Amino acid sequence: MVDRNGRDRDGAAPTGTTHSPPASFAEQANVADPGIYEAFEADWPACWTRAADLLSWDEPYDTVLEDDEAPFYRWFPDGRLNAAYNCLDRHLESGRKNHAAIRWEGKQGERRTYTYRDLYVEVNEFAAALRDLGVEEDDVVTIYLPMIPELPIAMLACARIGAPHSVVFAGLSADALATRMDAADSEFLVTCDGYYRRGDAFNQKSKADNARLALEQDVRTVVVDRLGDDLPHVLGDDEYDYHELREAFAGETVDPVVRSATDMLFLMYTSGTTGEPKGVVHSTGGYLAHVAWTSHAVLDVKPEDTYWCAADIGWITGHSYIVYGPLAMGTTTVMYEGTPDYPDRDRLWEIVDRNAVDVFYTAPTAIRAFMKWGSEYPAEHDLSSLRLLGSVGEPISPRPWNWYRDHVGGGDCPVVDTWWQTETGAVTISTLPGVDEMKPGSAGPPLPGIDANVVDEAGDPVEPGRTGYLTIDRPWPGMAQTLYDNDDRFVTEYWQRFSDPASDDWRYFSGDTARIDEDGYITVLGRVDDVINVSGHRLGTMEVESAITDVDGVAEAAVVGRTIPAGNTEIYAYVSTESGREPGEAIRAAIRENVAAAIGPIASPTELVFTPELPKTRSGKIMRRLLEDVANGESLGDTSALRNPEIVGEIQAAVGDEG
Ligand code: WT7
Repeated sequence: MVDRNGRDRDGAAPTGTTHSPPASFAEQANVADPGIYEAFEADWPACWTRAADLLSWDEPYDTVLEDDEAPFYRWFPDGRLNAAYNCLDRHLESGRKNHAAIRWEGKQGERRTYTYRDLYVEVNEFAAALRDLGVEEDDVVTIYLPMIPELPIAMLACARIGAPHSVVFAGLSADALATRMDAADSEFLVTCDGYYRRGDAFNQKSKADNARLALEQDVRTVVVDRLGDDLPHVLGDDEYDYHELREAFAGETVDPVVRSATDMLFLMYTSGTTGEPKGVVHSTGGYLAHVAWTSHAVLDVKPEDTYWCAADIGWITGHSYIVYGPLAMGTTTVMYEGTPDYPDRDRLWEIVDRNAVDVFYTAPTAIRAFMKWGSEYPAEHDLSSLRLLGSVGEPISPRPWNWYRDHVGGGDCPVVDTWWQTETGAVTISTLPGVDEMKPGSAGPPLPGIDANVVDEAGDPVEPGRTGYLTIDRPWPGMAQTLYDNDDRFVTEYWQRFSDPASDDWRYFSGDTARIDEDGYITVLGRVDDVINVSGHRLGTMEVESAITDVDGVAEAAVVGRTIPAGNTEIYAYVSTESGREPGEAIRAAIRENVAAAIGPIASPTELVFTPELPKTRSGKIMRRLLEDVANGESLGDTSALRNPEIVGEIQAAVGDEG
């Protein structure tokens, strides 16, 4: 098979050595029975009650799966529950109120521990405050906070009163926030004055203010004072101080609102193939059951563990595996506000050591950075508390996988490489650490009950070793229910490609290419669509391109991903200017500034190459494949399909000058 970039990916490096889970791990694993795969298969979809049984239901469900309106599947449709109750109240009732729920590690070395009781109290007070501000069931509350405890508290307060939250990553821009609030018609915002970036106070509220100015609706805003005197701020109309609200509602409790399992728990915007971000809608029952189950079966979380997922709650990983999964399972979840190299490159290992972390979950981009910095940093600390390591967000190749296992995991920790997406809600492909052999470089088999396949253009399974498209051919509990306010786009983005609605045959298309081996292990290769994965963050090429072409003087832009030697992907932009406009430093700076303003600094191109024209097909389509090959220094394929083949040499020369 040939991928979007015209490259034949078949016959890429084989996976290599396999590792068995150590006996000591298997003995204590939450799931250790290899029969689980067959057991799920034999009893599908009822097998998923194993996941649902990890939750407490106000009204038990009779039906496991309703598929009348596929692909709008409804899991546990007649069951009723509350997510905050499942993450808080029930742990108090089972006598664990003094158990640590969140251990927060601040950027400036501050530390805060919330017991389940503390968290319960603060969530209730803030839920009461939100109600008083007028938040009703089903109102979307936007949360624009960095990694401070008030972020999960606000999420759980929303869940408690049945108000879906829409968390917008704090590093995104005012424009990005406004687009998301507008799309969700959100009239409530929780934000903060600012946060520390490498020791400096950074103003978050001014971004929130600018977003509000751009919106038509009135927005009631709660502001958390994170910086105190380091960044004084004034509250305007419709703005409320978080701590004052808490004082006003001190000691108040709010009964958890009993929700249908299919009611929306939250919305999460993610990049797609077109400019508009997609509001992925997650359910209360199916989502929570799936994240709880995978926290249990894949991350092997135990209530007595100290568990750390070093991601940001502003993305799905943090929703599922910092907040909902671990808290539903009643464990201690570590929440880290800072970066891995501040104040020094051993920062994470110091936190693991001091907290005796049992399970650690991070992204390949971080692992590659650790590897580059050197093994002396983890070696400075006692990491023997670690029992299991996880990876998520991008493919991890065998070298960093092995480095992670050897230098962080002491050579004998199992590593789970977990494949999933914002849309899948929870892990769908991974080894079960107490059951399966690990093959570095391959995520593993689909989890029990998950019907993931690698298929060709016609939807037929490919031979082992060949490359194809990654599909999921049966529904699963954590799946997105729809795209907010856009059922049509939900169908066209994910289902159209490989489904046959006439025969009611629905298959989900992930947008990824993959290979499968003889043992059914899946190696995910990357995206087929115009989405670039930068450090585990999905960015749509169209979004970035439109932020570039917005700049005065820019005629056209094309954005591609470039893989740098460390394995990370960078954004590479090709830009042509309007006639009479000289490309130069001024326009370059304006582009960087505008991309940062429209999306956020993460989307800012690392490399910007000016070219008089972009290479185009005769029908006028920009040849991204070619531009990607140029950026990656690869030999160029056939350029005869181009309308302007002469431009290629010029672009190569320009790239040469840049490099
Ligand atoms: C895309 C989803 C799931 C939380 C983080 C990102 C890539 C994710 C892996 C993995 C290879 C992976 C895929 C996927 N991806 N995990 N273990 N191996 N690729 O969530 O922003 O929705 O991105 O991330 O390309 O489609 P997301």
